[in-house]
Amino acid sequence: MKQFLSRMEWPSFVKALLWGLLVFLQFHQHRGCFHEERIALLELKAFLKSNIIHADVLPSWMDDAKSDCCSWERVTCNSTNSHVINLSLYNLNHDPYYYENRDHHEYSYYENRWLLNVSMLVPLKELKSLNLSANSIGGCLPNEGFEKMSSLRNLRILDLGYNYFDNNSILQSLGAVTSLETLILTQNKLQGYFPAQELIALRNLNKLDISWNYYNGSLPLQGFERLALLPKLEILNLGSNSFDWSIIPSLSGLASLNTLSLGGNHLGRCNTTTGFESLSRLANLETLDLSDNYLNRSIIESLPAIKSLKNLNLQWNEIRGSFPIKGISAFENLEKLDLSHNWLNSSLRIQGSESLSRLENLETLYLSFNHFDKSIIESLSAVKSLKNLNLASNYMEGSFPAKELSAFENLEKLDLGGNGLNSSLTIQGNERERHTLKF
Ligand SMILES: *[C@@H]1O[C@H](CO)[C@@H](O)[C@H](O)[C@H]1NC(C)=O
Ligand SMILES: *[C@@H]1O[C@H](CO)[C@@H](O)[C@H](O)[C@H]1NC(C)=O
Ligand SMILES: *[C@@H]1O[C@H](CO)[C@@H](O)[C@H](O)[C@H]1NC(C)=O
Ligand SMILES: *[C@@H]1O[C@H](CO)[C@@H](O)[C@H](O)[C@H]1NC(C)=O
Ligand SMILES: *[C@@H]1O[C@H](CO)[C@@H](O)[C@H](O)[C@H]1NC(C)=O
Ligand SMILES: *[C@@H]1O[C@H](CO)[C@@H](O)[C@H](O)[C@H]1NC(C)=O
Ligand SMILES: *[C@@H]1O[C@H](CO)[C@@H](O)[C@H](O)[C@H]1NC(C)=O
Ligand SMILES: *[C@@H]1O[C@H](CO)[C@@H](O)[C@H](O)[C@H]1NC(C)=O
Ligand SMILES: *[C@@H]1O[C@H](CO)[C@@H](O)[C@H](O)[C@H]1NC(C)=O
Ligand SMILES: *[C@@H]1O[C@H](CO)[C@@H](O)[C@H](O)[C@H]1NC(C)=O
Repeated sequence: MKQFLSRMEWPSFVKALLWGLLVFLQFHQHRGCFHEERIALLELKAFLKSNIIHADVLPSWMDDAKSDCCSWERVTCNSTNSHVINLSLYNLNHDPYYYENRDHHEYSYYENRWLLNVSMLVPLKELKSLNLSANSIGGCLPNEGFEKMSSLRNLRILDLGYNYFDNNSILQSLGAVTSLETLILTQNKLQGYFPAQELIALRNLNKLDISWNYYNGSLPLQGFERLALLPKLEILNLGSNSFDWSIIPSLSGLASLNTLSLGGNHLGRCNTTTGFESLSRLANLETLDLSDNYLNRSIIESLPAIKSLKNLNLQWNEIRGSFPIKGISAFENLEKLDLSHNWLNSSLRIQGSESLSRLENLETLYLSFNHFDKSIIESLSAVKSLKNLNLASNYMEGSFPAKELSAFENLEKLDLGGNGLNSSLTIQGNERERHTLKF
């Protein structure tokens, strides 16, 4: 042996060894995930184990050379190059209540906050999607925040919802991850003024969800108007915070918006609705959610008739009186309208209901939990496009309004339940089969 490895032969032996190693690595890579990504995932597992209460964290992530990390649970690799592209690390505690509702979340059995070390994810260079929702994360370790992810050029989707993030400085660090298209921060503990300014470098951002936090406004000149710099922002969810009407003008410059959710705020708790007129500049808006906002009837006059609007949600407000025919008819392209859980009634025998025929695309109309009597049905028959009508839990009495309903040519679904109508059905022949009727 000694003789064989003479001085002259050392280099070629080393060369052969290196060559063999290279071939082995190459082979190894083609069979499964990359060595450094596998090591990073194993370190991540050890870190998660020290923070997550659940006894068995990611059992398939095994520290065994034969175990291919692309086959591990909650890991997806690119099938061509075997890089890890998707980590679905939501609810590692398997808490059955997490996604059910906010109250359960508040009192989650597993509440024990811990701090994330974002650096541990940096070796996953091709990561596209990271879901860390529902894990009781309370923030990041000092100097180990999301700015570390700025080197992950492909990261498009980041879900941090249902955690305990409570420091607005997280937004500054997220502002460095410029590849992001979807950023979800729903159901956290963020509060005070929303620092929109911190996100203006996210030029690819398409969807921002900060619903179910405790935000109550934005600072002048640092508020939502700054997001007008994001040309691809289409979906903005500000629902279930404590925003009042004063943020409305700052939203009017977000010209790319398709969906704006403002439900569950305090928009009507003020003495003006004039700001709403500025929303007329949202020329691409198709979905607007203003539910549960203490809004009264004047909102319908104040809202500009946005031509692009298809879906308007005004449920759970304080809209009183007769069906607001004039205001609603102006939304000519509406496909879905939800006015349920208000105080509407059939007071004035509705006049001018013909103008409702302008709503040629309205297919879904929810009017449940109001005070309508049966006369509303005749007025609504002007809406020829209606397919789905919900009038449950109103003030209708007596016989089933079969004659009035026969005027609805396209109706497929009707709910008249909870009205005290008696069930003497006189509806014709196969009508009942054609429709889904509930009463
Ligand atoms: C990531 O993987 C999960 C399943 O593990 C899948 O449900 C999800 O759609 C994937 N996300 C993306 C963006 O591919
Ligand atoms: C997988 O990698 C190939 C080559 O690098 C790339 O072209 C492709 O878009 C990737 N696919 C996904 C789903 O990331
Ligand atoms: C975070 O993780 C990185 C990579 O594993 C490590 O080098 C660093 O020490 C960790 N930071 C803290 C504060 O533990
Ligand atoms: C993250 O996972 C949860 C639970 O499966 C899911 O509800 C949520 O939509 C996921 N987030 C994204 C952005 O896909
Ligand atoms: C929020 O985070 C910043 C930066 O990490 C820190 O300086 C500040 O003290 C934190 N604020 C609170 C209230 O914890
Ligand atoms: C907004 O919330 C912050 C922090 O909770 C509070 O200090 C401030 O008074 C609130 N402002 C308004 C207008 O309610
Ligand atoms: C209306 O609200 C503004 C700001 O909230 C306040 O300054 C003004 O005094 C209020 N006016 C009335 C008549 O209540
Ligand atoms: C309706 O709300 C607006 C704005 O909040 C307010 O100015 C008006 O007085 C309210 N009208 C009624 C009848 O309460
Ligand atoms: C309808 O609602 C209006 C406004 O709340 C009220 O003044 C009127 O008395 C109601 N009419 C009926 C028949 O309940
Ligand atoms: C249903 O109500 C109508 C009108 O109040 C009444 O004429 C009819 O007898 C009732 N039918 C039944 C089965 O109670």
